[in-house]
Amino acid sequence: MSISASTTNNLDAFWMPFTANRQFKQSPRMFVGAKDMHYTTSDGRHVLDGTAGLWCCNAGHSRPRIVEAVQKQVAELDYAPAFQMGHPKAFELAARLAALLPSPMDHVFFTNSGSESVDTALKIALAYQRTIGHGTRTRLIGRERGYHGVGFGGISVGGIVNNRKNFGTLLTGVDHMRHTHDPERNAFSRGMPESGAEYAEDLIRIIQLHDPSTIAAVIVEPVAGSTGVLIPPKNYLERLRAICDQHGILLIFDEVITGFGRLGSPFATDFFDVMPDIITTAKGLTSGVVPMGAVFCTKSIYEAFMTGPDHMIELFHGYTYSAHPIACAAALATLDTYDEEGLLTRAADLAQYWEDGLHSLKDCPHVIDIRNLGLIGAVELEGIVGEPTKRAFSAFLKAYDDGILIRTTGDIIALSPPLIISKEQIDELFDKLRTVLNAID
Ligand SMILES: Cc1ncc(COP(=O)(O)O)c(C=O)c1O
Repeated sequence: MSISASTTNNLDAFWMPFTANRQFKQSPRMFVGAKDMHYTTSDGRHVLDGTAGLWCCNAGHSRPRIVEAVQKQVAELDYAPAFQMGHPKAFELAARLAALLPSPMDHVFFTNSGSESVDTALKIALAYQRTIGHGTRTRLIGRERGYHGVGFGGISVGGIVNNRKNFGTLLTGVDHMRHTHDPERNAFSRGMPESGAEYAEDLIRIIQLHDPSTIAAVIVEPVAGSTGVLIPPKNYLERLRAICDQHGILLIFDEVITGFGRLGSPFATDFFDVMPDIITTAKGLTSGVVPMGAVFCTKSIYEAFMTGPDHMIELFHGYTYSAHPIACAAALATLDTYDEEGLLTRAADLAQYWEDGLHSLKDCPHVIDIRNLGLIGAVELEGIVGEPTKRAFSAFLKAYDDGILIRTTGDIIALSPPLIISKEQIDELFDKLRTVLNAID
């Protein structure tokens, strides 16, 4: 397969997201096909997917059940309004998701992306506090190095400097806990780091500063992905939960990457056995096939809104494409695929093999830390002095040439393959990554 000359010659108009546009357009990297664990490039090469696309294609690529479901749905019911109207698959999907989540997390609000899920969750949290008579609780607390998408809500509670600094003053009334990254104590930890549960106490400092009666919710990624894979220290999330409970603060887990099997359980809430009040998801919900997100909340949050006259809208929020029929069909078929192949727990079986392979890269040049949990891995490189991100980007380019797709953020290589990856493919991924690390300057 190859892309036509007219296509290759016309790269100008597309302003690519989170991309070095000028570098890319000088030296394009095009995918024209995908099947199972591999992408096909425009020059006909197969590239092993080490990142499930962008942490989303958990069932692998172009899986037959999902493809058929989407094809069938588009011919049957292409679109149905989501406001004051419904279609059966939306309710079927919500019920299946509610059954997959631990009780009492049993109501679902549909969105189209992780960013929208985050904004939705923050709005539900604020509106809930007001609805139960706690209207002074308007503050939102995020965490340094958190990534919660790119909406104004998400970048406000997020803690990645480059995502925030150019975009004005963001939401007011937001504060941030310190991050949990502690390479002095925890470098090369296998799985959850031993040290750092006490970083949860930073929330107490913030609560004391603002007073609990002003704080609506705390949002964290159970495992921070986009900032370079920061695994929570043992007992950290439990401690956060306890502090939130003590002060009447809602806890939101942003599970946009941890949801749908990434850690070896359906959700991180299962894996860590810590129950938040609201969970945001997207990505793996449809295995990346159709954009879709979902926000889960507890029965008591949902029921707090179900008051007033029956004909009144209870929550003034929603998207034209909430519960889009094609997305619902894709998600249902994705859940079937996960079920049939045991994919939501498969990472648990592979986790040790993955960890051993990943940590075997410890002695490669420039490596200053390696982190892992479930089927997530990160290799942190020492940055080139005065040229941050350049070394990891060189690794990314060489990896692509060598036939593996990796992702980099700063000088960190992040890995999160589709959950169908075989042990042989894990070996191939790390063998090729070793060659890359040995080759770059
Ligand atoms: C934890 C987290 N939240 C939110 C998002 C944003 O998702 P989207 O890009 O679908 O808006 C991401 C994306 O990587 C994410 O990792």
